[in-house]
Amino acid sequence: MSHNLLKGKKGIIFGALDEKSIAWKTALRCHEEGAELLLTNAPVAMRMGEIKKLAEAVNAPVVPCDVSSNEDVDKLIEEAMKHFGGGVDFILHSIGMSINVRKGIGYTENNYEFTHKGFDISALSLHRVLASAMKQDAINEWGSVVALSYIAAQRVFPDYNDMADNKAILESIARNFGYQYGVKKHVRVNTVSQSPTKTTAGSGVKGFDGFINYAEKMSPLGNATADDCANYCVTLFSDMTKMVTMQNLFHDGGFSYTGVTQAVIEQMEK
Ligand SMILES: NC(=O)c1ccc[n+]([C@@H]2O[C@H](COP(=O)([O-])OP(=O)(O)OC[C@H]3O[C@@H](n4cnc5c(N)ncnc54)[C@H](O)[C@@H]3O)[C@@H](O)[C@H]2O)c1
Repeated sequence: MSHNLLKGKKGIIFGALDEKSIAWKTALRCHEEGAELLLTNAPVAMRMGEIKKLAEAVNAPVVPCDVSSNEDVDKLIEEAMKHFGGGVDFILHSIGMSINVRKGIGYTENNYEFTHKGFDISALSLHRVLASAMKQDAINEWGSVVALSYIAAQRVFPDYNDMADNKAILESIARNFGYQYGVKKHVRVNTVSQSPTKTTAGSGVKGFDGFINYAEKMSPLGNATADDCANYCVTLFSDMTKMVTMQNLFHDGGFSYTGVTQAVIEQMEK
């Protein structure tokens, strides 16, 4: 159901890989709410061709961009401005990648070349996108930028590995750039800390099934799905939340503030 919350707004969506992706669901919801979109992903991810289906469904162009390249990001922002004939109103940063996680290298044995690459893609890329947008004056007054995070930024989840450090820095960049962009142009920047969700990136974390079941039992409302997350992002891109900035917003069914639940106690007593 559409409420026209994003009617007349233009946005860039990073990170739609396949129909399970949080970015994919968010693009569909933004389109339903009346937004015009431009989609982007890493050239290597686009070779799978899935994104073309989404592009057709939301009537959006697709521009390749490796977010670890300054040149690619500058070109993407330039293309977006050309396509929309001016600035954008919102950006979704839905990007995460750790080579250490992918290769099963534990936190205490991390390969620092892999750590650097993962940091560049998962965290520094938010700074790069915001800096490029600021330089090219590509985000309209009261625009909204959302990046996706995870509670491993605050609490230890051992198998989340170096992604925990990446998320801590991602949230810090949202705060610090949020200050600068707020003062300069009333642009707001927030992170959404999402429940574990069955996607390609999520399922890559060791022990993910145990992890997602535990979170489900530890959340009074249960885990938030990718569709729930898409709805939340829509509200953050809308004018209804225009005074919210520099926040890390937990979207996790109450997990972050729950010490223990009856369901977990019962499980422990078995
Ligand atoms: N799935 C979860 O459990 C969960 C929970 C909390 C937060 N998140 C976060 O949500 C975001 C989206 O992940 P998802 O779960 O939808 O998984 P996903 O695998 O569908 O999305 C990750 C995206 O990052 C893109 N990416 C990787 N390297 C890139 C590069 N160099 N340049 C541009 N894009 C690149 C991938 O192509 C992919 O589209 C990530 O930031 C992830 O950490 C996921």
